Amino acid sequence: MPHVLIVEDDPNSAAMLSELVASEGFTTAVAATLREARQQLMLMPAQAVLVDLQLPDGSGLDLFNDTDLRGSAEIVLITGHASIETSIQALRVGAADYLTKPVNVAQLKRVLARLNQPGDLRAEITELRDGIESDGRFGQLWGRSAPMKRLYDQIARVAPTSVSVLLVGESGTGKEVVAQTVHELSRRRTHPFLAVNCGAISPQLIESELFGHEKGSFTGAVRQHRGFFERAHGGTLFLDEITEMPLDLQVKLLRVLETGAFMRVGSDEPFETDVRIIAATNREPMEAVRRGQLREDLYYRLDVFQVRLPPLRERLDDIDLLAPHFLAGLNASEGTERRFSASVIDRLKQYRWPGNVRELRNVVQRAAIMSDGALIDQVRLPEDPDTVVAARPDTEHGPGLWVPVGSSIAEVERKLIMATLESCGGVRERTAEILGISLKTLYNRLREYGQSAEATSVATPVSSSASMPTHPSSQPAP
Ligand SMILES: Nc1ncnc2c1ncn2[C@@H]1O[C@H](COP(=O)(O)OP(=O)(O)OP(=O)(O)O)[C@@H](O)[C@H]1O
Ligand SMILES: [Mg+2]
Repeated sequence: MPHVLIVEDDPNSAAMLSELVASEGFTTAVAATLREARQQLMLMPAQAVLVDLQLPDGSGLDLFNDTDLRGSAEIVLITGHASIETSIQALRVGAADYLTKPVNVAQLKRVLARLNQPGDLRAEITELRDGIESDGRFGQLWGRSAPMKRLYDQIARVAPTSVSVLLVGESGTGKEVVAQTVHELSRRRTHPFLAVNCGAISPQLIESELFGHEKGSFTGAVRQHRGFFERAHGGTLFLDEITEMPLDLQVKLLRVLETGAFMRVGSDEPFETDVRIIAATNREPMEAVRRGQLREDLYYRLDVFQVRLPPLRERLDDIDLLAPHFLAGLNASEGTERRFSASVIDRLKQYRWPGNVRELRNVVQRAAIMSDGALIDQVRLPEDPDTVVAARPDTEHGPGLWVPVGSSIAEVERKLIMATLESCGGVRERTAEILGISLKTLYNRLREYGQSAEATSVATPVSSSASMPTHPSSQPAP
């Protein structure tokens, strides 16, 4: 029988945890201090150690340093009042998962279930990793560039845990595919993966869509309705475009994340729920917080593990894999044997891809339809609207800007800003620097130009490294 060591100095909660763990089919031992924990581990190796963060003789985190002692034990950290900072730290140093006090049964069962069967998932992740070098892909995700490899690494690390994930990336970078991959590599994969586009549901309906409603709870509620949270039980709920969720509902979502329970509209009976949340946004989340589109408390709750998806223009070499991959899909469905000439691939690698992988897929599709023979040696790329605005024959100083007499100052300013942004490849920090304005001013102008949602995010450089949240002490709350 698998063995679990519980390290907790409060005797009541230790006894309660021990009982719960035993009822899930584990043998248990309890230690009240780090010293006792070490003794216990010497007596009997554990498959898992549930360890309180604050112990009389040190921090639970210290156990991570005792590599000899812990052996292959998975360490699950128990933290007081939802301390996200600590949870992140715990995951960084290698915790398998974490529990927040008071530990609820659903939460604990989830963690223990994972301990019971990590082997096959691990084997699968290893197999997928092998596929990166051999085929240039990680499951459904194609690409072998350094930023993609970092992304695969993050997916592999976070998928088997139960922590919330926040996906940040421009439109078309593959957020939904990443969310599915995370689900597929978790023990939740035998349960539903449900995707909700928060921007596509009317604000009046979103609450009942998420939480369900009782018959007669509002006009039109003719029968009882099970919401996404109920239907995704045991599985994963993908909340796409999270910044589009009405603020009052963000409060309710936060409550579900904190308590693990929700109520249907028109009912005050709480439902326990076991759902992993993956949220996604194509906006810069801190900016959305600043603008009051995303509640700061919800942001920190979701941002336990942030994953940034690299834009295609930062990994153009992946086009070598992606373009043939999309063409192969078309060939298979249409029984054709089309292929790209080397010059077409080169041309594809010179474009900036504001619509990222989705745009590439569309361009490949169009090229295949338009080509007569098996060899596709021509491709039409959409003109980038921003370059058309003001591009004129390049001067010796770089791309020039042509302004007709009669333009307003505001118009000239707009052209200059957009052209500079373009020549900086969308990197706003650099654009602001060259123009000699603050980043904030640049953001304000872009917003005025209606670049706020889509277009600005298209021009936003998204770094591909894992980024852990930092506290915005200098920023005012919304
Ligand atoms: N790395 C990849 N390998 C293969 N296909 C990909 C990859 N990334 C994205 N795609 C494909 O590109 C298209 C867009 O991806 P997806 O819908 O996941 O983007 P998104 O980030 O959710 O975009 P949006 O913000 O517009 O919703 C899909 O058809 C998806 O299958
Ligand atoms: Mg999407």
